[in-house]
Amino acid sequence: MQDFSGKLAVVTGGASGVGRSLAFALGEAGARVLIADVDESALESTRAELVDQGFEAHAQLCDVTQAGQLNDLATRAFDDLGGAHLVFANAGVAAGEAGPLWGYADNDWKWCFEVNFWGVVNTINAFMPRLMAQATNDDQDAHFMITGSGNGAFLVYPDQPVYSATKAAVQAVTEALYQQLLVAQSKVKVHALFPGPHIVDTGIFDSDRVRPEHFAKAADAPDSGIKTTEDLRKLMQEYGAELITTHPDEVAQIALKGIRDDQFWVLEWNQDTRAKVETRMQSILNQTNPVPATLG
Ligand SMILES: NC(=O)c1ccc[n+]([C@@H]2O[C@H](COP(=O)([O-])OP(=O)(O)OC[C@H]3O[C@@H](n4cnc5c(N)ncnc54)[C@H](O)[C@@H]3O)[C@@H](O)[C@H]2O)c1
Repeated sequence: MQDFSGKLAVVTGGASGVGRSLAFALGEAGARVLIADVDESALESTRAELVDQGFEAHAQLCDVTQAGQLNDLATRAFDDLGGAHLVFANAGVAAGEAGPLWGYADNDWKWCFEVNFWGVVNTINAFMPRLMAQATNDDQDAHFMITGSGNGAFLVYPDQPVYSATKAAVQAVTEALYQQLLVAQSKVKVHALFPGPHIVDTGIFDSDRVRPEHFAKAADAPDSGIKTTEDLRKLMQEYGAELITTHPDEVAQIALKGIRDDQFWVLEWNQDTRAKVETRMQSILNQTNPVPATLG
């Protein structure tokens, strides 16, 4: 797809960070946007800002852990707004994990898997049948982009096994979905987005702001204490490392280019990450033991 004008784009986690930037970039490219999020006030202010910019923007409160709420979102997109040609399964959280993994709160595992993994599965289940049906009646491509992470998909960081495990699972699903649609010769294309090339300056470190009571972390459970990119910057400085960040608007441009170029792997490498991935791949191929990767 080269021309997004008039197309409806649905973005989960659209109220902040990468999702918010995607919504603006899509609006700029002429698309109509339907943003979905659990953060009601951020959702409404993002929708209002999109409208202020002259874009057609709709918003729906939607918890991606709830299959029924994603079905409602898909119904809104297809029955009320004329169908969707761009879907971004983007919502995600980090649980602030820290220390040895056998000491993590169960709710860190459960919450992260519910949002990062089941959120993607629920989005696929709600949208894919409708996208497939639309594709048979409509000779246009549709695109389904899943936000994964190199942290889990390509690398395993020793200090973030919960997040890494969710994103490893997301990668398996994304790649299998891509292959199934390829075999089916579908006009629905699947893309794997890896925000970067550096840590993206978003609200992810403060995911607790939208953490529901039923997944609350016990007061004495381990926590990294990192709530902002600045906190991470300070921590890295203590170890003599410099934090380089990427603005989410840059990620949104990479995402749209990936769709236009029909790429599955949608990312920009930084040399440090690329070298670590090469080291890991060599370790697998040569059966040498893993070397811990450091965040950067
Ligand atoms: N920031 C990074 O460096 C980075 C790197 C790789 C991947 N990612 C991924 O990018 C995606 C977007 O994260 P971000 O960095 O923009 O963080 P963010 O916190 O700024 O945005 C995430 C959005 O998801 C929403 N959300 C959380 N739980 C939800 C739920 N249950 N249902 C619906 N919405 C929910 C939040 O309210 C928020 O608006 C995530 O999948 C994240 O894992 C981020």
